[in-house]
Amino acid sequence: MEVQLADGRIIPVESHRIKIVQPTKFLPIDERLTAIRNAGFNTFLLQNHDIFLDMLTDSGTNAMSDTQQSAMLRSDDAYAGSESFIRLQEAVKDIFRMDYVIPAHQGRACEHLLTKVFVKPGDVVITNYHFTTTKAHIVNNGGQVIELIYKEGRNTNSDNPFKGNMDLETLERVIAEKGADKISFVRMEATTNLIGGQPFSMENLKAVSEIAHKNHLLLVIDCSLISENAFFIKTREAGFSEKSIPEIIQEMLQQADLIYMSGRKSTMARGGMICTNNEKIYHEILPLVPVFEGFITYGGMSTKEIEAMAVGLREMVDFNVAGSGAEMINFFTNRLINLGVPVVTPPGGLGCHVDAIKFLPHLSQTEYPAGALAAAFYIVSGCRGMERGTLSMDRDENGKEEVSDMELMRLAVPRRSFTMSQIEFAADRLAWLYQHRNLVHGLKWIEEPPVLRFFLGKLTSVDGWENSLTEAIKSDSRMN
Ligand SMILES: Cc1ncc(COP(=O)(O)O)c(C=O)c1O
Repeated sequence: MEVQLADGRIIPVESHRIKIVQPTKFLPIDERLTAIRNAGFNTFLLQNHDIFLDMLTDSGTNAMSDTQQSAMLRSDDAYAGSESFIRLQEAVKDIFRMDYVIPAHQGRACEHLLTKVFVKPGDVVITNYHFTTTKAHIVNNGGQVIELIYKEGRNTNSDNPFKGNMDLETLERVIAEKGADKISFVRMEATTNLIGGQPFSMENLKAVSEIAHKNHLLLVIDCSLISENAFFIKTREAGFSEKSIPEIIQEMLQQADLIYMSGRKSTMARGGMICTNNEKIYHEILPLVPVFEGFITYGGMSTKEIEAMAVGLREMVDFNVAGSGAEMINFFTNRLINLGVPVVTPPGGLGCHVDAIKFLPHLSQTEYPAGALAAAFYIVSGCRGMERGTLSMDRDENGKEEVSDMELMRLAVPRRSFTMSQIEFAADRLAWLYQHRNLVHGLKWIEEPPVLRFFLGKLTSVDGWENSLTEAIKSDSRMN
């Protein structure tokens, strides 16, 4: 809930009580330096006990409600025919108005099943923007991804409220050029993760749906952050302010042939599922579940998480819950703008995104500015962000670097996890780093995995720049 204070500031006020907490420690600077070196300058490889504020991701890190926690206690661990799964089906029916639910252990497991059924070698998948795991599964099946994000989506600074929109003219042209029989499906990601959690509009979704269906193509929505996208439609798109979040979600989902989601985000649990009203599609995918995931009434998930997801589905459509991340991100982004730090605008749905090309203009993209920034920010603040740039791309089949459209350091804001003073702290330390940005140089590989290299790869600094950064921190009494 956003409120305006007497001094004119608009701030997010949390509509929950904090009852369970996990202590965190702010390590001394020398220990932070050792930790990032041991992690190969890759924030994925830091240990949780080394981290003060964990802004790596909003995936599986959102605070659960007391109702979710209590639902977990009544979970029914039957291998087949679990009551917990029936409760999930009921929640899907009530919230999504969809009849068929295929459980899978998380979002990428859904992508694995979908691409196995629909993507044949030589096919293309058209999407507003790719996500790392989605692309890996498509490519693994011999397919190719075509991104048709509207040109404004690649602009880090914009006031366009729907930078996740698809370019409709190009969509028509690409379908005509490739031929509908070569296109596995059209995919809309709500909200587009890699370009800053940017939503698409209902108007754009309906137009995409019309074009896809006119060409007999399936429309798939990645619903991992569906309630955030619906929140942005309600608060940013003309004609939707009076509609409820469930009404908006149902209107969105009516456009799709099937949807899938990581249950780790909007539903604030840990799991995944594919949902559809199309019986034929359901029966095409279902036989793969026992092969890859588990029986069709748990799909690799713990039944505790199924219960939490069922409750999470119902809770995520509360306006205050749907907006709880987005409003904090809005506050964080505006704070950084006031401090002069270059960030992606407008604020999106899963975190605050820092533009590393503008932050570190002295680095080329093959020196991995977003990765260097994330490592430097950890050294400065003990906060863990995530690289979303060229490191998060894999090399092409000839070993050539594919540079990313953007170099972003993502500071995820999991729902209901951070207080405003923690956000203020992160913003302050990032502003300090911006003033000392010339101390930060590039990274180079030590160990580079061939696929999804950003998860496990190890790097080092090109010239030991972390030493001068550490000295600068030590010489500023406010920073220790
Ligand atoms: C848009 C989107 N799709 C799919 C996934 C993959 O989901 P999971 O991490 O549950 O495998 C993610 C994860 O962050 C995501 O953001």
